[in-house]
Amino acid sequence: MNFVVCKDYDEMSKKAADVVAECIARNPHALISFPGGDTPLGMFQEFVRRVNEGEIDISNVSYVSLDEWVGLSDQDEGSCGHFNQINLIQVLDKPFKQVHIINGQAADLQEEANRLDAFIQENGPLTVSVLGIGLNGHLGFNEEGADIQSNAHIIPLSETTQRVMSKYFGDKFSPTEGITQGLGQIMKANTVVLIANGEKKADIIARAAKGEVTPLVPASILQQHENCFVILDKAAAERL
Ligand code: PGA
Repeated sequence: MNFVVCKDYDEMSKKAADVVAECIARNPHALISFPGGDTPLGMFQEFVRRVNEGEIDISNVSYVSLDEWVGLSDQDEGSCGHFNQINLIQVLDKPFKQVHIINGQAADLQEEANRLDAFIQENGPLTVSVLGIGLNGHLGFNEEGADIQSNAHIIPLSETTQRVMSKYFGDKFSPTEGITQGLGQIMKANTVVLIANGEKKADIIARAAKGEVTPLVPASILQQHENCFVILDKAAAERL
């Protein structure tokens, strides 16, 4: 793991955007994936600024979302798809070559997972996968005990994730399942960027990056990735 400890959230966001920009510069036909959640917002803004100012050329780049709450689509505020729409897709002056946003409202969810697999298979492997980390160490919705070989799948949300999700939805929605890229697909990415900020992430970052590699802490599998950047603000790096 390559650790990058930044002075604050803004620097963390810029460093993550730097890695993505380098990956695209090396491979203009890249397949890239960003997470939802609070953590990546600054990186999205930095990425969009660089694209709109002509510093990053995405005309041949494809984009795929990481995960979605089952029952929600990109029309639902607080969903991962909606976050992608308003902070990335709709604010880019120039479009990606292709965009695949997971629909958690699909009538046939297994079919939706198959579509995600097919998109990654056709355009992949992922050139760069940017990830946040849950308080339980989840990556996307690969919760505790996740299969490290998995492709896209539907998964029950852990208690921790269900508790944390009120920050996105209040009591408007209470999803119990997620649909997500699998750890197998994430581990096949050429470059992985894990970002985290704030003191509340310090414990899980220490367990994921320095603790035992175990499916009980899904992000710990990234210790076995050959090209993984862990980009943190000072507070999240405190217990390393
Ligand atoms: P957060 O979510 O960025 O809102 O903390 C991270 C995650 O659960 O993956």
